[in-house]
Amino acid sequence: MSGNGTEPEAEQSPKHLARVIAITVAAAVGGLLFGFDTAVINGAVDSIQGEFDLSPSVLGFTVAITLLGCAAGAWFAGGLADRWGRKKVMVAAAILFAVNSAGSAYAFSEWDLMAWRLVGGLAIGIASVIVPGYIAEIAPSKWRGGLASVQQLAITVGIFAALLSDASLANAAGSADGEFWWGLAAWRWMLLVGVIPAVVYGILALVIPESPQFLIRAGRDAEAARVLSRVSGVSDTDGKIGQIRESFEREDRASYRDLRGPAFGLQPILWVGMAIAALQQLVGINAIFYYSTTLWKSVGFSESDSFTTSVITSVINVAMTFVAIFFVDRVGRRRLLLIGSVGMTVGLLAATLAFLQAEGTGEELTLPGAWGPIALVGANLFVIFFAATWGPVMWVTLGEMFPNRIRSIALGVATMVNWVFNFIVTLTFPWVSENLGLWIMYAAFTVFAVLSFIFVRTRLPEFTGKDLEDNAELSTA
Ligand code: GLC
Repeated sequence: MSGNGTEPEAEQSPKHLARVIAITVAAAVGGLLFGFDTAVINGAVDSIQGEFDLSPSVLGFTVAITLLGCAAGAWFAGGLADRWGRKKVMVAAAILFAVNSAGSAYAFSEWDLMAWRLVGGLAIGIASVIVPGYIAEIAPSKWRGGLASVQQLAITVGIFAALLSDASLANAAGSADGEFWWGLAAWRWMLLVGVIPAVVYGILALVIPESPQFLIRAGRDAEAARVLSRVSGVSDTDGKIGQIRESFEREDRASYRDLRGPAFGLQPILWVGMAIAALQQLVGINAIFYYSTTLWKSVGFSESDSFTTSVITSVINVAMTFVAIFFVDRVGRRRLLLIGSVGMTVGLLAATLAFLQAEGTGEELTLPGAWGPIALVGANLFVIFFAATWGPVMWVTLGEMFPNRIRSIALGVATMVNWVFNFIVTLTFPWVSENLGLWIMYAAFTVFAVLSFIFVRTRLPEFTGKDLEDNAELSTA
């Protein structure tokens, strides 16, 4: 999928803006499901462990297997979108989302739970590639940056919705194990409610327009012209269609072979992209978003306080994303990432020191004196800095850093790397924290936060404001 540009004679009126925002928000429900379905496990983890009597490593695998599905989904999404069209792929993702929620809720063993979660992962991986691609295609270039950020905002809102829903259900049923409607335990309901946004997404995907890029590739020029004029506000639709067609002729020649280069067999810029994608996960953000309820319980919070704390953290995550949206073009990508690395290091270091004071192990673990609050402040400071910097800015940077010819495949590869490292962190977290100590995990996250600073400082070029000049296709196609 390629970016869409706007020629000088384009006329975007408030009517177009309203339309394109509505369509962007509809597509971004895919991002909301990405956030919801990755985080919803947070409140159910302990009950799943109890119900199926899982060891920490099998539990880690049950949580993390979704992320393997994500990596696979991300890998295939681009090709499917070109073959079937963006809308059909979104509808397929919506069906997979719904099936995964219903299936996991009724899981009778850890094995079928894992199978359903793998299916859900495919849906999330598809959404992580198709939503930003689709938004870039329908958005007029002058609004594209802002509209593209709606995806990360939707992800954070999805995480918040999942944690709020988990907390409400656990409260209503007395605990996550408590029975709720239809004889189903609250933790099963936590998984089941994901069917609602999935159905909404399927319906929205049917009513939004197909992307002009796909229509033109399929020879459906008349329909493409309608979308271009109604949504993107293009007045010279024939000229625009010609430009898009020309960009395909250049693009079609790119393949995975074009990723080859002199740096250990790959293009240097691809290594940079894969490194920032990996570092975004290696600082441990999802150890918080997937496991925080367990974390706060294990340091002595009550179950209901742990749920509430997780919800508050996810509200901070949503709110701080607006800070990034505001500053990303003003302060610049590199500076924002560097500030983020410093802030994350401080927060993670505080949490590491606090967890180092832990007394007892497993269920009996407590943090003495002021160390509990210090861990809480440290972890939230980390989330504040991540959400305002590395969370959104990593995705923005990945979207713009690659040369036009290899952009979509390089983006797919780097996105997959992000999911693979998310998988590694999520899989190792329960085992390491139980057997070696929570502080070791946080010490490792701290080290990666320091490395993230060094990497950006020494290796990441500045892309702010340069993209449109440097990438002829992005500004003209
Ligand atoms: C980013 C990360 C994702 C994480 C989210 C938290 O999107 O890529 O893994 O869950 O931020 O807000």
